[in-house]
Amino acid sequence: MNEFHFSCIECGATFPLSENIYSCPKCGDLLQIEVPIGELKDAVDFKILRRLPLSVWRYAPLLPIIDHSKIITLHEGGTGLHHCRRLGSLLGLEHLYVKNEGENPTGSFKDRGMTVGITRALEVGARSVICASTGNTAASLAAYSAKAGLETVVLIPSGKIAYGKLAQAIVYGARIVQIKGNFDEALKIVFEVCSRNREIYLLNSVNPFRIEGQKTLAYEVCDQLNRQPDYFIIPVGNAGNISAAWKGFTEYYNLGQIEAKPKMVGVQAEGAAPIAEAVAKKRLTIEPVKKPETIATAIRIGMPVSWKKALRAIYESEGTALTVSDEEILDAQSILARLEGLFVEPASAAPIAALKKLKEADYLSRDDVVVCVATGHGLKDPDIVTRLYEKPVELEADVSSIERFLGLAKREVAVEFPKTAC
Ligand code: F0G
Repeated sequence: MNEFHFSCIECGATFPLSENIYSCPKCGDLLQIEVPIGELKDAVDFKILRRLPLSVWRYAPLLPIIDHSKIITLHEGGTGLHHCRRLGSLLGLEHLYVKNEGENPTGSFKDRGMTVGITRALEVGARSVICASTGNTAASLAAYSAKAGLETVVLIPSGKIAYGKLAQAIVYGARIVQIKGNFDEALKIVFEVCSRNREIYLLNSVNPFRIEGQKTLAYEVCDQLNRQPDYFIIPVGNAGNISAAWKGFTEYYNLGQIEAKPKMVGVQAEGAAPIAEAVAKKRLTIEPVKKPETIATAIRIGMPVSWKKALRAIYESEGTALTVSDEEILDAQSILARLEGLFVEPASAAPIAALKKLKEADYLSRDDVVVCVATGHGLKDPDIVTRLYEKPVELEADVSSIERFLGLAKREVAVEFPKTAC
């Protein structure tokens, strides 16, 4: 087929985009959207495309949206790719970059997928949208859905999402249901609700339109570097984003825009690591973690829905996956903030925590171009910092207390005005 279409990642069946489906009607497995590479290679002038501002919609010709007048955008994408020289010199990496997805409109990478997902919801005539979430998807969905004038329902695990994210979902007007269960259970319920009630549109990353938006992360990184990274290190929860980024790199390679594809490195928290465990054992399937636990609540997921796509990304790219502890995550969060001025939420610090391990194991070398994805902003989860870090001192409101505290020598200073001023 020489147009955008669905294909099943397992049985290979294909379906036109006019069908409103989220999973393969034949075998029930995940769908992906096939991009007509040959057509686009001829039709798209990438020199002209790159003159447009860096953003998700710079790549509109590579996205499966038909009616561009319907696009719901809050100006997502175009996030900074920060060359981390101080952190890099500490680790012995000269070309270490952080792609700071916290710079997106609602503070996480989810906005890339949501601008495409909500636009698709309008194309299929949806009135209400739903997702299960560990927090960021809910915040992003609520914002884009508000802009589109749709009703939003979000299911979140009770007491296990960061306050900043909850506040966002509340203020954007979503109907929020806290379930007495974890994310995996919430997602199962959402699937069931959507399969019984076709009028509610599902916007978890199982929806391949979300993945299409998220793949622009890879395009942007290549355009910012003017080449592909050697290693792309990314936190993994429900496994949509690593799958999306791999799709993006693969397409850019097939379109002749990069010379090689990076090795994909997935990072999970120790207490929620079914993918990293499968990779360690060189398995082709995962064993779900029944009671996932980590301080990085965004990736507190035991049964990642896109596990198959993620394992393929890791194996095909000859990359790897590894785990980091909660303590390593918090140390990495602090070090990234103190050395590079980047405040990221705990899940987003996981790749930074992984760097030390990968360097010590000689997996990475000094000259490699390494990109870590910081998926969400630190202000999403301020509780962690205020709870775990030392409290600021409280002093009397006078100059001498402050000087004493700062260890400034006591000296008599006569305030003199410069003579010329009189
Ligand atoms: N980092 C952050 C900050 C996230 O919010 C998520 C996922 C991930 C990494 C992992 O991405 O699921 O595509 O592998 N958050 C989802 C949510 C699950 O509901 O907000 P993934």
